Amino acid sequence: MEPTAYPYIALGEEAREDDLLCSFRVEPAPGISVEQACNALAAESSIGTWTDVGTLPAGLRDRLKARVFSIEGHMAVIAYGAELFEGGNMAQVYSSVAGNIFGMKDVARLRLEALRFPKALVEAFPGPALGIPGIRTALGVHGRPLVGTIVKPKIGLDPKEQAAVVYEAMAAGCDVVKDDENLTSQAFNPFEDRLKACLDAARRAEDATGCAKGYIPNVTAPTEVMLRRAAQVAHLGGKFAMVDMVTAGWSAVQSLRGASLGLILHGHRAMHAAFTRMSDHGIAMPVLARSARVCGLDQLHVGTAVGKMAGGAAEVQRCASALTGTPSEEGSGVSGQEWGGTLPSMPIASGGLHPGHVPDLVRLFGTDVILQFGGGIHGHPGGTAAGTRAARQALEAALSGVSLAQFARGAGELAAALSKWNVEA
Ligand code: 3PG
Ligand code: 3PG
Ligand code: MG
Repeated sequence: MEPTAYPYIALGEEAREDDLLCSFRVEPAPGISVEQACNALAAESSIGTWTDVGTLPAGLRDRLKARVFSIEGHMAVIAYGAELFEGGNMAQVYSSVAGNIFGMKDVARLRLEALRFPKALVEAFPGPALGIPGIRTALGVHGRPLVGTIVKPKIGLDPKEQAAVVYEAMAAGCDVVKDDENLTSQAFNPFEDRLKACLDAARRAEDATGCAKGYIPNVTAPTEVMLRRAAQVAHLGGKFAMVDMVTAGWSAVQSLRGASLGLILHGHRAMHAAFTRMSDHGIAMPVLARSARVCGLDQLHVGTAVGKMAGGAAEVQRCASALTGTPSEEGSGVSGQEWGGTLPSMPIASGGLHPGHVPDLVRLFGTDVILQFGGGIHGHPGGTAAGTRAARQALEAALSGVSLAQFARGAGELAAALSKWNVEA
């Protein structure tokens, strides 16, 4: 290979401590070599373009260019110098290393498998304000997964009906109850009315049970509206706010975190699968999970492996460790991340879950997880309260190492759930 033909290829070079590292799966277009494709990717995602330009002196190029320092089969690792990034601006990071390159004709398929932020860049973001310790303190729940539900139907109820479901679920044992991703402020359920009714329901459930409860309103909206809604949540004494992080975007997430309202920020990931699902193209979900923690979400949906959404156990566990992990748990190189003082975020398992899944979920996640059941609670033959009790019974069984079938002999709600969802005894 001519040394000058591919100026961004630097095989065998070492990554620097303060480099941002990306691991890409690269499938070149027909007639393009992997080296050629990688060179084009590294150029476009750092300082170059498709041709030489006189405005880029060689000295500047050599100082700022991304370097492809390893290519093994289809996998390439590209290192980007810290100077290329603006601290505290996640949109800028993604516009660089996950931007134009996905649409380049030089690649037939391209997948960003892993991204390691330099420690200084992580520290230029606030990270979660409360994280796992803050969530546990706010709810007074220690040593077990949290149990939550999503009000169903996902949209359609009015504020009073929504609040009735919130109360019933909380009074029966849900720690948290949330709005669904597409409920914001429709005519049949205006945000402010719902917020007041549901926070009141949560307060009544706290009085009835003597336990702290969290109602999680979806504040997703144009940024200034979202911030107004979140401020109202804080003003009325709410503990949580949810944002649809992919549809709203990184800057919206950062603005919400930057408002420092003292709320636990819940990230829903609706639309992620448009670009995370195909194994040979797009961005791997663990990359989003790591970025969400950097931006400051306290808890995030990461999949379930066993429920209704795509995403196997390996991917779900990589997402969970991106949220909770320390460098030693995450690995080294592109898979390892220095977190400095960044708090851990809580993984959320949600989507198609019912009580029969609980033992698998506890095996998969351990105790630092929020288990959320929508249909798996409200679809119980005995209704929301019975469904909640079934979920709590399943959790009690799993944590004490008793099989669900055995536990269900003394727990009618769990027995009914196992029968409805055809769980083998
Ligand atoms: C873009 O953002 O559209 C590109 O930067 C276009 O740059 P080019 O004309 O050098 O490809
Ligand atoms: C979610 O947003 O995660 C879903 O609303 C879960 O609902 P389900 O438990 O009914 O699939
Ligand atoms: Mg949903």
